[in-house]
Amino acid sequence: MKSKEIKQARRSDGFPEDFLWGCATSSYQIEGAYDEDGRGLSIWDAYCREPGRVSRGQNGDVACDSYHRWPEDVALLSDLGVDAYRFSVAWPRVQPDGQGPSNRAGLDYYARLVDALLAKGIEPWVTLYHWDLPLALGQAGGWTVRDTAYRFAEYAAIMYRELGDRVHRWTTLNEPWCSAFLGYEHGEHAPGLRDRASALAATHHLLLAHGLAVGSFRSRGYVGEIGLVINPATPRPATRHEADLAAAERASVERTGLWLNPVYGLGYPEAYLKARGADMPVKAGDMEIIAAPINFLGVNYYNEDAVAEAPATPAAPDGYRFVPTALPKTEMGWDVVPQGLRRVLGNIARTWPVRSLYVTENGAAYADEAAAPVAAETQSARVHDADRVAYYRGHIAACRDAIADGVPLKGYFAWSLLDNFEWAHGYDKLFGLVTVDPRTLARTPKDSYLFYRDMIAGYGLE
Ligand code: FCB
Repeated sequence: MKSKEIKQARRSDGFPEDFLWGCATSSYQIEGAYDEDGRGLSIWDAYCREPGRVSRGQNGDVACDSYHRWPEDVALLSDLGVDAYRFSVAWPRVQPDGQGPSNRAGLDYYARLVDALLAKGIEPWVTLYHWDLPLALGQAGGWTVRDTAYRFAEYAAIMYRELGDRVHRWTTLNEPWCSAFLGYEHGEHAPGLRDRASALAATHHLLLAHGLAVGSFRSRGYVGEIGLVINPATPRPATRHEADLAAAERASVERTGLWLNPVYGLGYPEAYLKARGADMPVKAGDMEIIAAPINFLGVNYYNEDAVAEAPATPAAPDGYRFVPTALPKTEMGWDVVPQGLRRVLGNIARTWPVRSLYVTENGAAYADEAAAPVAAETQSARVHDADRVAYYRGHIAACRDAIADGVPLKGYFAWSLLDNFEWAHGYDKLFGLVTVDPRTLARTPKDSYLFYRDMIAGYGLE
């Protein structure tokens, strides 16, 4: 229960009393302990070992060592004052080969974490899949193979059985566009393929996996809510020319309608499939499974691209190209566009029958200065990340604008609690509210952590 004072401060700040403030991480990015207690390998363990795939050959073997240091992380979350912590379960910790009996030691790790969060009054939000597919399934074809969807549903059922009495918010997949397209078409994420047909097959099987897992949650009668997390895009037209407006519409489909149309029972966007001359591997009954009602939709937002019309080619069948802007950029090279968050939330709320929306990730990478001691007597150190503070301030204000617009936005999660393994960038891109010393793994809150803590406590965005 929040104190009266805080509730009132929040109300005057434009956020509803029960607005949920959270923080997010994912298993492969923070856990480390890649070969401990019976964990199997994931496609990311293998991908990191392929030369040239990840910056400077880095990997998640140790990461932030949260597998061992989770009590420190829970303490940081508690001091931050968040209502919820969004983390993911490493499927290969639970089922080392992606199928068959579960691994008790892996399950116990998550049970301990959940219990510790609940003891601090922090609600666990569990993501079932944040990209670390068991390698054995990857070697059998990964998401291009229909069977993977059924294996996922079995794994989800194990997790519901194990934690369903204590975890009441679940998300099935994190950003399935990345799994399908970065993984199978662009070759930038595991498993690193460059094949469009595989990306489309993966799209369908990821959606099928999602639908099966939602269906099994419902049929077993668990208390709680389940949803999907996507990274939608509503690119801005580079000019007001009709052709660029139309190009921007087309450019949004692969990241947004391709996922939300089927989830909301509207089938696949036909123009998109036609431009690719491709069919989805749909079997009778699949679309009904995929359209199993969800309780909420999670939106991950970092930036907004500008696009202009371009001739359609076999390599770029949607007929658009990204164009540079003069906007400020984060260390990822991504444009900083706070109002883009308001736009994307508004577009989704207007286009699909979404009852509850959450920003499940938002944050920025900047090249932080090294942690500097600030006060000898406290032995503490701080990182002065003014750019990140400004990023959060702008984007949280955009959430408030979206609520004022009538968007059913119920919560916000900062990405990320810790500086962590940023996929193909390794540890070169830092998104944390807390810095993690690469040698000692000591955690030090940055100014952005203090800003977010104060904001949650009711001091607003000033
Ligand atoms: C998102 C991912 C998350 C993190 C951020 C920066 O696409 O879901 O794991 O890498 O980007």
